[in-house]
This record gives sequence, C-alpha cells and structure tokens, in this order.
Amino acid sequence: MAFAQAVQSHTDTIDRKWWKEAVVYQIYPRSFKDSNNDGIGDLKGIISKLDYIKSLGVTVVWLNPIYSSPNDDNGYDISNYRNIMDVFGTMADFDALLKGLHDRHIKLVMDLVVNHSSDEHEWFKQSRSSRTNPYRDYYHWWPAEKGKPTPRYSFFDINSDAWKYDSLTNSYYLHYFSRKQPDLNWENPKVRTEVDDIMKFWLDKGIDGFRMDAFQYVAKDTTFPVFPPGYEKNINKYYGMGPHLHDYIKEMNTNVFSKYDIMTVAEGAGSTLEDAHNLVDADRHELNMAYHFEGVDITNKPGGYTLLDLKQVYTKWDKDFEDKGWLAIFMANHDNPRMVSNFGNDSPGFRDLSSKMLTTFLMTMRGTPYYYNGDELGMTNIGFTDIKDYRDVAALNGYKHVVNTGGDVQHYMQELRVRSRDNSRTPFQWDSSENAGFTMGTPWIKVNPNYTTINAADEDKDPNSCLSYFRKMVSLRKVNLVLVYGKYNLVDADNPNVYAYTRELDGKKMLVLLNFTAKDATVTSGIDLSKAKVLIQNYTTPINQNHLRPYEAIVYQMN
Ligand code: GLC
Ligand code: CA
Repeated sequence: MAFAQAVQSHTDTIDRKWWKEAVVYQIYPRSFKDSNNDGIGDLKGIISKLDYIKSLGVTVVWLNPIYSSPNDDNGYDISNYRNIMDVFGTMADFDALLKGLHDRHIKLVMDLVVNHSSDEHEWFKQSRSSRTNPYRDYYHWWPAEKGKPTPRYSFFDINSDAWKYDSLTNSYYLHYFSRKQPDLNWENPKVRTEVDDIMKFWLDKGIDGFRMDAFQYVAKDTTFPVFPPGYEKNINKYYGMGPHLHDYIKEMNTNVFSKYDIMTVAEGAGSTLEDAHNLVDADRHELNMAYHFEGVDITNKPGGYTLLDLKQVYTKWDKDFEDKGWLAIFMANHDNPRMVSNFGNDSPGFRDLSSKMLTTFLMTMRGTPYYYNGDELGMTNIGFTDIKDYRDVAALNGYKHVVNTGGDVQHYMQELRVRSRDNSRTPFQWDSSENAGFTMGTPWIKVNPNYTTINAADEDKDPNSCLSYFRKMVSLRKVNLVLVYGKYNLVDADNPNVYAYTRELDGKKMLVLLNFTAKDATVTSGIDLSKAKVLIQNYTTPINQNHLRPYEAIVYQMN
C-alpha cells in the first residue's frame, strides 16, 4: 500500500491503518456555511470552505446526514437514502464536494442512519398502508387487538412512549426516537439487503466509510420482553447489543465492508468493555473502532465531572484496548455541548487556554481523534434562555413533556442551557461581519453573539489563537507516530488537578502535562526534564518545570 510506504517503517508489531492515523473533523452541514443565503448551511457552502478545511491538516471529514429528510431531527430522519436534502443542494454538489476533498487528500465518511427511517420514507408509507403490504415487516408493528405492547422508552417522544398508535391499521409502531423516526426491522433480511445496497451506492461513488448512527440499537428481541422498572436509566444495557447484532455486522462486513478500503465506526459500544471489543477486535471482522459514551457521560452529572473521573475512564479504556481493538477519542459532537464549555472553562480569562489544553489532550491520546467543527476556534455554548430559540426536537419535546406532566420547567430550562444539543449547533463563526459570515439571510438558529471576538478570520491572522494552536497540534500528531500508536502510561495518577501521561514507541518517549484547573498546580512526574525538549505549549512565556499555570498544557519530547 502506497500509504504504508510513505512513512518510515516502525516495529512490526504495529498494525498500521490509515483510519488509526487519521484526524477526523466533523462537519455539521446545517451550520457550517450557507451559500445561497436561505439561512441554512449547504454543500456549496462546504465546498467554498475546502481550503480552510485543508488548512487544518485534518485527514478525514465526517459529514452529518445530508440525505433527503423532512428534518424532524435535523436529517437523522431520512426519507430517501439515495438523494440529497433539497436545502443542502444536489447530487452534483455532492460529487463536487467529494472530489474537492479527495483532490486535497481528505477522505469522506458519511453518517449511516438505519436504526430508523423517516415516517415519510416510501417504505414506511407502504408499510403503514395495510397489514398485508409487502413492506409491512420493514418496521415493528404491534396489532392493537393483542392489547397494549410492552412499554418501551422513547428518547424524543413527548410522552417518552416509543409505541405510537396508528388507526389506519389499528396497530402500534415502534420508535426509539421521535414519532417521525420509526425503527426499521433488522430481523427482516430484506431490510438488511436494502442497507447493503445503500452502502454500496455511496461507496461506489467513492466515499471512505460510515459512522453508523445509533447502531447498537438495531437488533431487537421482537418478543418484546418486559424490562425491569427504571430500565430507561440504564438504557444501553437494554436497548444496546440486541440478540443478532454481531451476525448482522458480520454479514455487512462480508457483503460490503470487506470489499472496500474503508473505515467503519458505530455510535455506541454497548455497556461493557467486552461489548466494545466484540464490535471491533480485528480478528472478528466486524467494525474498525469503538465509539463509547463514557468519556462524555461523566460531564452529565450534577456538580460536573472531576479530573479523577476523566483519568479513570480514559485510563481504563486505554488499558483494555492496549493489545486489541481501537477507539475513537472525542469530547464533543453535535449531540453534546461545546467542548470548552463542557470540559474546560469558557469564561473570558480561561477560554483560550483551556480550549488549547483540551485540544492537546485529544491530539495526544491513543485512538483516532474526532474533532467537532468550531471547537478549533474555541466556540462556546450559547445557553439560550428562551424555549423559542431552541430548534432541537429533543429539547422541544422534552419541554412539552415537562409542561404536560407538571414538572419543574425552570429546572428543565436550566438543564437545557447547559446540556442542550443546540449549544453546539449554532452557526460556524467565520468572521466578524453580520451573522458571523455564515449567511446574509436569517440563520435557522441564532448565531452566538461572541462571534465578534471568536471567529476564524481573526484567529487565522493570530499565531497564538486556538485555531493556530489546533493546526500545530494536528501536524505534531501527524509526524509523530508515537502519539498515534505509542503506549500510554498515566503519571502522578492521583493528582486531582493535573493530567500527566507518557506515550512511548520504539524508544521514543513523550510526556504530556495538562492542568485541568483555573489555579496553579504542581505535578510530581518523577521524570527528569533537564534534557527534555518542549514540542508545544499553550502559554507564550517560558515554562517552569513541574509548576503549571492555569490550564497550562505542555508536550515534552524526552529523548
Ligand atoms: C444519534 C445521533 C443523534 C440523533 C439520534 C437519532 O444519537 O447522533 O443526533 O438524534 O441518533 O438518529
Ligand atoms: Ca443555504
């Protein structure tokens, strides 16, 4: 493979793969760049920013869904898997985008959303039309004469009820997400063949892989057993890794994945380390990498997370995947708040430093980093306080649920302000012109007013900006295979303020020091730094060995 020859060879024990050495940049198309001023980002908008994307040094773009969709869940409800959403453009635009990326040696990974389709997909229209329609078994139906189906929890439903009654055939259909997202019946081999064909359609166009949405949920026990009370608090245990999931993935691997040089990653990795290994260990021939939620979930508890929690989670996963399997590393995406607001400190004095510190973390861990668009600028949560500003179906239906059940609306609004997915979906901040240069129309969701100071144009000119730091960090990772494959070792494990670790490969060793607090902190590494060389740091003034300033980040080369 040309790729493997391009870089010097290393120990034979390393199973080198392009998708392990990749830096993935996630683009949320609706909010990236609007080319025709209808207020909605689009493919031509992304095309106009290809040189910017290239300038980041990233090697893979993951694009959130761009297929035809009535947009109940911003494209995660697909009505035609082989077409482009009207507001995003045409198939010709898509082809141009793919070519533009490939011309710049950037690969493209698409979202594959097949746990459910839209209720406006032709399959569902047929399926619901009569009990004897050939498409009936494409979805999960429960005839009402059998009584009410066993309760199932819905993430987005106003009543949290995943069964929707449909009078047309006097039956209920299953929807883990919104009512407009009926779950496909993977137990029907025809559905699986349809999905294989959809994947081939896109792979034959030349795309480089799939991020498989909500994929751990696709396989279901269709006898619908009763789950114990409170099961929804541990939902992945009950919804994840259903009966024949591995058979289905193996089938996809045989029929499709194995025929292309692609990367495959499923969203969610079950509820145990063993589940995750079963998905991705190379000898099982299923997927390439596991994308677990524990890293982001630690921020989801009252009072926030502690650094010791974070270290524990990442160290546990790293140790367990040291010899086999491969992980995705991420701290934000379109379903989570902004990285700097959630894990760092977005107050004016520390936003810049803490954002760079977190970037250092992501780019120096083992696993493939997934970096969410806008985080390279240090974009922050918008924290809407008025429900009218929210656009996310999860936020809007959750709000209705709280109102209808007489819940604590004020508390819910406070939650949304910090946790809502809309925090990371505000328009990309290109420059300081109106609407951050995202659109000249009315943006579909409000622009964060801090765009006048946080934007790509200003940061591009500033060698010390978050953006410039991100570019440096990406290139550092790309030229140092030790940062990709090197053994990870936690240092000063119980230090509650500083995350310190070494990475080691072929006698090459690096030390990473990260102060996760807004105060000065000390690290006891026990490592002699007298001969160490600083590869990168997030302060511009000299460092003081083991004493770290607020949110200070340093990467040393030890030899
Ligand atoms: C995944 C997506 C999320 C979407 C959901 C339903 O979790 O990341 O954005 O709402 O699946 O498709
Ligand atoms: Ca547009």
